[in-house]
Amino acid sequence: MRDLSRELTEQLLRGAEKFQKHCTSLDIARKERRRPWRLDILREITGVHMFSEHSTRTKTSFQLAMENLGGSIINFELATSSRSKKESLRHTIEQVLDYSSTIRIFIVRDSDEEVVRKIGEFAAFANVPVINGGDGPREHPTQTLVDLYTIKRELGRLGDLNVAIVGDPAHSRTAHSLLLGLSLFDGNKVTLVAPPMLQMPEAELKGLNLEHEMTADIRAALDADVLYMNRFQEERFSNPEAREEARLQFRSVSLTEELVRSARKGLIIMHPRPITEGPESEIPEAIDWLPNAKYRAQAKAGVPVRMSLLEYMIRPTE
Ligand code: NCD
Repeated sequence: MRDLSRELTEQLLRGAEKFQKHCTSLDIARKERRRPWRLDILREITGVHMFSEHSTRTKTSFQLAMENLGGSIINFELATSSRSKKESLRHTIEQVLDYSSTIRIFIVRDSDEEVVRKIGEFAAFANVPVINGGDGPREHPTQTLVDLYTIKRELGRLGDLNVAIVGDPAHSRTAHSLLLGLSLFDGNKVTLVAPPMLQMPEAELKGLNLEHEMTADIRAALDADVLYMNRFQEERFSNPEAREEARLQFRSVSLTEELVRSARKGLIIMHPRPITEGPESEIPEAIDWLPNAKYRAQAKAGVPVRMSLLEYMIRPTE
């Protein structure tokens, strides 16, 4: 996220707005079997997905974004590759790149931020940029672009906002990146709502252009402009006792329909998804149908936002 200035972020969001219109017309063209059903901007460009953590939205929307732009994406599973036969990461990346000069971008997700950093380093030798699709609990910058795009569309501005980040901010990469994204704009305040074991470390906020407040009381979020919910990131705990203790604590910040109905009018609810299903859900299903639940539209914006980013990274001057 630190690679994104305010100007560049605004430029990417403008690009996404432009592509949003294309997405609708391309979709209709496909349905009616009419041409063109894809744009020509990244024709003959291949992207490589290297995801070793699971993904629904990031992977699918990058794939569709590339397809809409006229390019293609190949899926490369690090876990089932010859990495398991002790091939080095450098040889692996070099090998994939050797197969085709049309490979011009990598999109990487891994639980280990070092792996993402190293892939970036090796691909840079071939002048191939790497997009971080999520590096462990650290960052998820493309989700933040989607989040900012959604906020702008719903509320008309990206500054002078009160954004409540609720749930497990300590371990949510989307929360870490969102803090950086919001700090690019002036007048923003974040209210971090989490039980003690899951609260954002104060050091993460140091030096950021953000006012902040920390609390364990979910009611503090009901007054905000945006309530940004995160699920409990249980996979980030190696100690089972700590995991169970944190899971119990997490329940105190889950939403209920009643809480949402008592919130400030105009509050929007966002969530990067996945939302946990069942009795431990942080957003019970009944909330999905309320008009201020925006997480479905938020996820849908992933395609135009990622189209804008791919265009910028592969053809920045066009
Ligand atoms: C998130 C992720 O993978 O970081 N989802 C996403 O990409 N939209 C959120 C999560 O896993 O909680």
